[in-house]
Amino acid sequence: MTTATLARLARRGLQTATHAPPPPPPPMMGMGAMSSMGRKPRPEGDIGSVFASLSGEEAAVLPARFRDLKRAIINDADKAALTASWGRLTTRLARAADEIEGAQQAAVPTVAYDDLIHADAGTIAKIKRAGALVLTDVVPRAEAEQWLAETEDYIKANPQVKGFPADDKQVFEVYWSKPQLAARAHPRSMAAQRALLSLFAGTPTASVSLSSPLTYADRLRIRHPGDSRFALGPHMDGGSIERWEDATYRSVYADILAGRWEAFDAFSEIEARAAAKQNMYDGAGACGIFRAFQGWTSLSDTGPGEGTLRVYPLIREQTAYTLLRPLFRELKSRAEVGHEAYLAPENWVLDTESTAFPGAPPARSQEFNDDTHPHLQLSRAMVSIPRVRPGDQAWWHADTIHAVESTHTGKGPSAVMYIPAVPMTPVNAEYVRDQAVGLRAAVPPPDFPGGQGERGFTGTGGEADVPAGGRAAMGLEPFALDGSAAERAAREQANAIFGFAK
Ligand SMILES: [Fe+2]
Repeated sequence: MTTATLARLARRGLQTATHAPPPPPPPMMGMGAMSSMGRKPRPEGDIGSVFASLSGEEAAVLPARFRDLKRAIINDADKAALTASWGRLTTRLARAADEIEGAQQAAVPTVAYDDLIHADAGTIAKIKRAGALVLTDVVPRAEAEQWLAETEDYIKANPQVKGFPADDKQVFEVYWSKPQLAARAHPRSMAAQRALLSLFAGTPTASVSLSSPLTYADRLRIRHPGDSRFALGPHMDGGSIERWEDATYRSVYADILAGRWEAFDAFSEIEARAAAKQNMYDGAGACGIFRAFQGWTSLSDTGPGEGTLRVYPLIREQTAYTLLRPLFRELKSRAEVGHEAYLAPENWVLDTESTAFPGAPPARSQEFNDDTHPHLQLSRAMVSIPRVRPGDQAWWHADTIHAVESTHTGKGPSAVMYIPAVPMTPVNAEYVRDQAVGLRAAVPPPDFPGGQGERGFTGTGGEADVPAGGRAAMGLEPFALDGSAAERAAREQANAIFGFAK
């Protein structure tokens, strides 16, 4: 594919763009198209403009330099070790599909708030194995129900609000309602974020703090019974091709790419993850921060089949397969040899010839289906998370393959506020600093489709509505300088980025 074709594809992803198309892709691997500074405003729109799975885009052939990238990765490794590891992995995935299909919701751990805060080794192991969990009893049920009532009132009072789909709005371009400000700063929610961040091993350093989470302002969803339009297919956020192309990002997966996927620890390398370039092609749906866990807080009683989250609940296996998949190609097609022989290790060889990175087009999320990633057996191995009640939370690791149930067959709203767990890093603090400008002006945060947002709405929350315990995490006041020396240094750095003098 030519550079012009790539640029055209990128433009197609920005259908509502009113500004110039993004710059052409960088000529060399490892060079980002954008720096973290110089954030440019996003065009107006809704969530439908940012997901390839909602846009029906076809796969495109990547330019030749992606073959060079693949060759470089393969040549860096011991080829025999890589091939042997693929065999072990695909065998494991076949067993995993059986296990997950048998376990269904039990494949995703349900952990009570107190058991996370005082987690024992068994609980930690369960969470680390799955890479996803339902966390119960975080916010009192009555409080979460009150948030939903207030949110519905806010939406009713402001019928001009944007949302997806436009004729039956369910994912709202709402970032600054008072209940969202309260939910993001809820002390038990912030404690849960700290506990989840602490699962990422590592010595505290001056650049990453896991004990001072920052707050990311995101949308909210109130899905209606019967809806089948807000259906996101299996995907992984945090970029697509960047996982291979950016050398820092790639280093997170060094064990996998060296043929040692069993040694891969999804909860290490926090520094590299935090410094990785997740957005080299100015993706319309890209996230400007590093979220160690994505998550949402439920405002409703929602079980499987009721429009909830689906995940592949084995983080090591699915990440290993995602990273190894482009390095291998099939010898014979499924149509030629049938399902089992198609998946068998002997039907797959190292691919140093094609430019294919299945499901990983530049400027899009990494996506998965039975053609691009057949060994995952997604139709069996993606499971809906266990039932949640108002005040419970769903959490999934940055690399978890996730989807949204295609149809909501329940009777009530399936309502969530998206609130992730964000470590304190310089890049994240810069984003939070810029995000605060959005709060003050009642316009969308930098990552989201731009425009007038909630400006002129009735009842929008403002700076004064952010509760005391959550103000520093929003960049509205400096962090107290206490804790270990490394923690103090990280906080001092964030305070300086926020613009607070020493
Ligand atoms: Fe996602």
